Amino acid sequence: MVILAAGRGQRMKSALPKVLQPLAGRPLLEHVVRTAGKLSPAGIVVVYGEGGERVRAAMAAHDLCWAHQAEQLGTGHAAQQALSLIDSRHQVLVLCGDVPLVRVQTLKKLVFAAGDDSLAVLTVAMADPTGYGRIIRDAENRVRAIVEEKDATPEQRKVAEINTGLIVCPAHYLKVWLEQLKADNAQGEYYLTDIIARAVDEGVHVKAVTAESESEVMGINDKLQLAQAETANRQKLARELMQNGVTLADPERIDVRGELICGKDVYIDVNAIFEGKVELGDNVSIGPNTVIRDSIIGAGTRIHPNCVIEQAVMADHCEVGPYARLRPGVELAERAKLGNFVELKKSHIGVGSKVNHLSYVGDASIGARVNVGAGTITCNYDGANKYRTVIGDGAFIGSGVQLVAPVEVGADATIGAGSTISKSAPAGELTVGRSRQTVVRGWKRPAKDKKD
Ligand code: UD1
Ligand code: CA
Repeated sequence: MVILAAGRGQRMKSALPKVLQPLAGRPLLEHVVRTAGKLSPAGIVVVYGEGGERVRAAMAAHDLCWAHQAEQLGTGHAAQQALSLIDSRHQVLVLCGDVPLVRVQTLKKLVFAAGDDSLAVLTVAMADPTGYGRIIRDAENRVRAIVEEKDATPEQRKVAEINTGLIVCPAHYLKVWLEQLKADNAQGEYYLTDIIARAVDEGVHVKAVTAESESEVMGINDKLQLAQAETANRQKLARELMQNGVTLADPERIDVRGELICGKDVYIDVNAIFEGKVELGDNVSIGPNTVIRDSIIGAGTRIHPNCVIEQAVMADHCEVGPYARLRPGVELAERAKLGNFVELKKSHIGVGSKVNHLSYVGDASIGARVNVGAGTITCNYDGANKYRTVIGDGAFIGSGVQLVAPVEVGADATIGAGSTISKSAPAGELTVGRSRQTVVRGWKRPAKDKKD
């Protein structure tokens, strides 16, 4: 299998290589690599170009072979660079780094159509085929050639059926034919597409497989097409969610940049963004304007509007927000409640405990049935190191408390409002750590000096 990814992508007008432009939060190339991987190929060779070290680095997590194309002389020349890494007995599926939304079922159909020793090309009829290579068929409807837009006659440009760029060809043919390509065309490039006419000349069978939708095979050359692909992808994911029983307040206003797994009767309000892998249990409700990344949310949990949640694990029937920020490493046990303007980081909140208003809780372990009063913060950082705060079951922390870590509050302890707690507070007792209130009787407020 070969993925062509060396093109300059000039039409993007961006410093970022085209195949690294993000679609649904992932580089275009990564979409192709992931889909390709699902076919369990003998190997995946990615053809990369000038300055392609960034491309290699971005794909470091995947098991890929790399072939360098020093000069971008066209798709045929690009495919040729990969051939030394491919067994002549194999069928080669050529994919494009800029055709990211193709489905694995479609690729399977294409590979199946090619069999052991034929060519297969993936085509589609486009409402507006501008910019694509056209499929030229003969009177018997057999594919004869692919003609690029720039080389096509006005008559050929009227053809709606286009080349998606995805082709299967036996490696031994490719090895001979690509060697003999000529760049005598409008763009002065070596076109991979010229192998179709060559196969026809040699009497090798060429099959055409039609993709199910235009959007699945759209090539992304500029920012406009990138946005169109984003929309198409969003609509597809929204449709899949709704087919699986999820209620979306507005299918046009949800973004899934990764994987979203939903239980039964999940409700998602407008402008929710899901990144990475997110799992929502049964009856979860997600409020509007919420960003959730790499998190697991238990059944019946409600996320109120305007929350930002990253790497959190929540048990069932929790409540979060509005306006809560969960930084990585937060675990909520059942029925835990986080209110508005609350920031948490690397903390465990026990069963039924509440942090309801204007608090910062970092590096803390909070037991069950704890109440953390408004404006309470953990002072977890001394400028060099971070320390933990541990609060036992049933403790009551008054409002405006500073817990200077490392510090421990025992079970059922009460901490008076406004306390600065820097030493452990014993279980079951009231601890107060604030200056005493005094009354200065007869004190007079300063008055303004009288002008003469
Ligand atoms: C190509 C096809 C066209 C098809 C369209 C589908 C050719 C000649 N044309 O046109 O028939 O309709 O895709 O989207 O094949 N690349 C390299 N090295 C190069 C040139 C390109 O690796 O020297 C890679 C690009 O990174 C890209 C792919 O090949 O992933 C296609 O190249 P691009 O320049 O986008 O071709 P199109 O003009 O879109
Ligand atoms: Ca393209």
